[in-house]
Amino acid sequence: MRFGLFLFTVIASLVPPAAHSTPSTRPPLARAIEAEIEAKVTALLGQMTLEEKVGQLNFPSYAFPSEPQIEAVKKGRIGSLLNVAHPDHVRLFEEAAQASRLKIPLLFAIDSIHSFHVAFPTPIAWAATWRPELAERATEAIAQETAQVGVNLTFAPMIDISRDPRWGRVIEGAGEDPYLASAFSAARVRGYHKGGLATSAKHFVGYGAPEGGREYNGAQISMPELFDRYIPPFQAAVEAGTETVMASFNTVNGVPVTANRLLITDVLKGRLGFDGLVMSDFAAIKELVNHGVAGDLSEAAAKAIRAGIDLDMEGKAYDTHLAENVHAGRVAMADIDAAVRRVLRVKYRMGLFPDSPGGARKVPPPIAEAAVRKTARTVARESFVLLKNSGATLPITPQSGTIALIGAAALSTNDHSWYGPAGLEKPVTENLRDALQARIGKSQKLLFADAFADPCGQAFADKDKAVETAKAADLIVLVLAEDCAVSGEGASRTDLRLSSVHTEMLDALAKAGKPIALVLETGRPLALTGASEKVASLLIAWHPGTEGRTALAEVLTGEIAPSGKLPMTFPRSVGQVPISYNDLPTSRPSTGDRFTTGYVDEKPTPLYPFGHGLSYTTFRYSGLKISAPEMGRDGQVEIRVDVQNTGSRAGQEVAQLYTHQLVASRSRPLQELKGFKKIGLAPGEKETVRFMLKASDLAYHDDEGKPVIEPGRFKVFVGGSSAAELEGAFQISGP
Ligand code: NOJ
Repeated sequence: MRFGLFLFTVIASLVPPAAHSTPSTRPPLARAIEAEIEAKVTALLGQMTLEEKVGQLNFPSYAFPSEPQIEAVKKGRIGSLLNVAHPDHVRLFEEAAQASRLKIPLLFAIDSIHSFHVAFPTPIAWAATWRPELAERATEAIAQETAQVGVNLTFAPMIDISRDPRWGRVIEGAGEDPYLASAFSAARVRGYHKGGLATSAKHFVGYGAPEGGREYNGAQISMPELFDRYIPPFQAAVEAGTETVMASFNTVNGVPVTANRLLITDVLKGRLGFDGLVMSDFAAIKELVNHGVAGDLSEAAAKAIRAGIDLDMEGKAYDTHLAENVHAGRVAMADIDAAVRRVLRVKYRMGLFPDSPGGARKVPPPIAEAAVRKTARTVARESFVLLKNSGATLPITPQSGTIALIGAAALSTNDHSWYGPAGLEKPVTENLRDALQARIGKSQKLLFADAFADPCGQAFADKDKAVETAKAADLIVLVLAEDCAVSGEGASRTDLRLSSVHTEMLDALAKAGKPIALVLETGRPLALTGASEKVASLLIAWHPGTEGRTALAEVLTGEIAPSGKLPMTFPRSVGQVPISYNDLPTSRPSTGDRFTTGYVDEKPTPLYPFGHGLSYTTFRYSGLKISAPEMGRDGQVEIRVDVQNTGSRAGQEVAQLYTHQLVASRSRPLQELKGFKKIGLAPGEKETVRFMLKASDLAYHDDEGKPVIEPGRFKVFVGGSSAAELEGAFQISGP
């Protein structure tokens, strides 16, 4: 069975229908077509020399074609290329492939993550919208832009669960929760497919759990945890039809994933039923030598292919050493054939061959930049998270008086597009100062001081002038950006506080005695305990992209009410990390007493919990009803709750459903997200939100990674964050 699964289904029916129930737009091909593909692959394999087979597994990085590279493609020594992103270069390589003996088309892959031309907010921000359909629209647009240049595969979605904000790549994922991340994983795969790109779900698996948050570091993950927490987003991507999966750089329980047969062949290809191709990460096969599991490149090649790594991305190990391994009997021809079969199968499924049984690939027509920008604006608007808003300091109204906008980030048009836009002209981006001026400039005064010498605030421009400007105003809007170079790959941090320059500025402004609204552009959760105490309002803007500062001005001035919720916990201090809402209970729950769980120098709770986010209005939850007090192992219950807008303006709220199994054979997390729905309510309006919860949604995994639905009592919590207080209970009955 193509996507035969035996894990519990994470994309459950209790999530908003619009967001989650749409099937992949690249539905699994009909069985007859798959059979035809297999026949064609078998026929083609039969014609291939060992050198040509190895060529199909060779995936080097070449941005610019040169004569030797073109020649290598003509000889069938290269089957896929990364980082070729100019249409002329794609064409040259394609012509070379057509001039090869077997005319096997190439995969062209790049990292189109959150931008190609127009930059969208970063994926962590998409997750903060709690609307997977927005991520689907974003990835569709990004794919459409990318596909126009001839690229046919993206290295996305990145779906690594991370509970550790020290790790720089939390910016690329959907945060700490497997349920939320699975919804976004599937949505992103669907979106890229709609826009004309194949996907690579990455990085399988555990890359987001490096010890100490240190980039590329190993992870220790037990079998149950692997299946409960880290695998679900990959399962969701497989179900949504991802064509490829990228293996992660790191070790899991001491064995590098790139050489890990248990994880790649047994779990991913076997138990998850993934029958597309698995690629290594960049140079990861070569780096098996650094890991100390291979003595040289040749041994690394042998270990990787035997583990089930089909494509060698830039490791040059397969190209130079696979054939010799086959001749020496260290690698079986069957292993090579199995890998080549997967590569060819994917190329047929993508429609790259003119006679592809499912039809040849069609690139969707380009969409107008204005339409892409509109989507980017919507995503940005819904991604901002208002963590604090004492005294309704925000939004800015005429009653707010004179505004002092402080911070060089307010002049920034940086879209933080790592990996792009690929050589194309950058779209025009409005900065925050102009966007605010356009909105409030007629009704009130907007003063400005850049304060810092650069948008990321590494040094002061003129601190005193900033303080003077603040003193002349009634409300200070301070815009800070987490140092631009400290997010993304290779950007782990040991300190999650604001920089010393930022802190000094904030302290000086706080002395001015005016309320401060702090706007923070960041790629990760930060430890904001001190900062949060000094400000009246705190708005997390992530890295908002091309339309982001305009959207920010809309939200600051109340044209749009904030509606984002945290996809990751904000700790009080870095010493608390990792800290997540779904931790396990301890022998001694915290009571404040010294001999209960916690710290002697810090509270045990986070500063802002998972799922938290305010609006400019308020919501009340009431009337929790569970359709039945009990269900069997194959049963389901409906959970209903009334959500009412109790404020005086319209707003959106994300109703969240959490469960906790009270007694089981393993300790179960204190809370687990099992459903969410974002709704818009007019002032006074009330809506009943419904969640369907199946017993199978409550399964967990045993020591062998097998799903278990264990009878027992479950608590249910419903509310606007993981601090949800409305509580009910039901039972799964059975022996
Ligand atoms: C290394 C990164 O880990 C991976 O996510 C990316 O796709 C590749 N480089 C290719 O750029």
